[in-house]
Amino acid sequence: MKILVTGGLGYIGSHTAIELINKGFNVTIIDSLVNSNIKVLDNIENITGKRVEFHKIDLRSKDELYSIFQKNIFSGVVHFAALKSVSESVNNPKLYYDNNVGSTENLLDIISSRKEKINLIFSSSCTVYGQAKKLPINESSPVLNQESPYGETKKICEEIIQNQTIKSENLNAISLRYFNPIGAHESSLIGELPNGIPDNLVPYITQTAIGKRKELTIFGNDYPTRDGTCIRDYIHIKDLAEAHVAAIEYLLKIKKQNFYDFFNVGTGKGLTVLELVKMFEKINNIKLNYRIGDRRNGDIISAYANTKKVNKTIGWHAKNEISNALKTAWKWELKLHSLDDN
Ligand code: NAD
Ligand code: WQD
Repeated sequence: MKILVTGGLGYIGSHTAIELINKGFNVTIIDSLVNSNIKVLDNIENITGKRVEFHKIDLRSKDELYSIFQKNIFSGVVHFAALKSVSESVNNPKLYYDNNVGSTENLLDIISSRKEKINLIFSSSCTVYGQAKKLPINESSPVLNQESPYGETKKICEEIIQNQTIKSENLNAISLRYFNPIGAHESSLIGELPNGIPDNLVPYITQTAIGKRKELTIFGNDYPTRDGTCIRDYIHIKDLAEAHVAAIEYLLKIKKQNFYDFFNVGTGKGLTVLELVKMFEKINNIKLNYRIGDRRNGDIISAYANTKKVNKTIGWHAKNEISNALKTAWKWELKLHSLDDN
């Protein structure tokens, strides 16, 4: 069974491609390489023993994308391709609307021109909930007006995907609203490749630990939480990757037409920034250089998932320890560092 993975050389896409291959799916990857490296393709092969078909295509180029659908019959599409920096999206909203929404529109147009039934999984984000009034956040929590163009693109893409499932006979779809993925593959052959100074906490921690950054600034310790720092639902990248396989398998079994649904993907447990930092220090036996700084603009205080819907409906559960994700993240940073030295 053929599955197209857009953005499949990126962080979450590459881990998902591996889990799909391990489950026996025939994976084709499309990526523009705007935020990934072609070497990931070799490393997917090193891990799985399978060379996946790869096309360097920007999804905004509809003709090139169309030609891939003409040459293949895909049962599923896992659509990761997008730009993901919240700060960059604030500075360059047009780029984010063009790239993230434009790509999704092209993909949907092409799917609607096809006869075969296609099951689509879309990478959405817990960002669509903003600061939810009720915790843990369940799927009935309203999708708020977004503070960033990035968040807005996720909201719009969810809507246009849902609209297309209503009117099309060949598309069923699921949006997965990820909480905070962290960690790397246990082999240390693939992981997150942050571009420049990381926005996200874990790459910032590992880059500080390796000496690439002087110190980690913890953005505020005066929030109304148990230790004053913000709370997030960190999820092991392997669990997140497996959630996509479970979602595809679920859609493949569904007999209904016009099916659309959305699910939270998290562990259900919130950790504070300080708890995560201390866990990193303990599991890796490292002293991290950090200081408490000002709050970061736009940060929400606390977000963690109610995962009952995904657990019950799709049968997926997070299994891997967050401490293990922090171990693999550190091993991955060491690997990147050793490659820098050569
Ligand atoms: P990533 O940047 O590592 O991967 C995205 C991949 O898509 C990259 O390889 C990039 O080169 C490719 N890409 C981007 N635009 C493209 C285009 N127009 N055509 C072809 N390829 C294109 O990011 P990631 O962390 O793996 O995120 C994957 C998806 O998950 C994104 O949609 C992101 O918004 C979403 N998401 C990520 C997080 C997170 O914390 N990492 C959380 C929630 C949702
Ligand atoms: C986590 C916590 C920071 C860096 C972002 C996007 C969101 C989603 C996930 C894609 C926060 C604190 C961070 C640092 C710190 N992505 N922190 N010092 O804020 O949940 O969300 O990634 O959809 O859209 O906005 O994740 O990793 O940036 O921060 O203290 O140097 O770590 O304040 O509390 P966040 P994050």
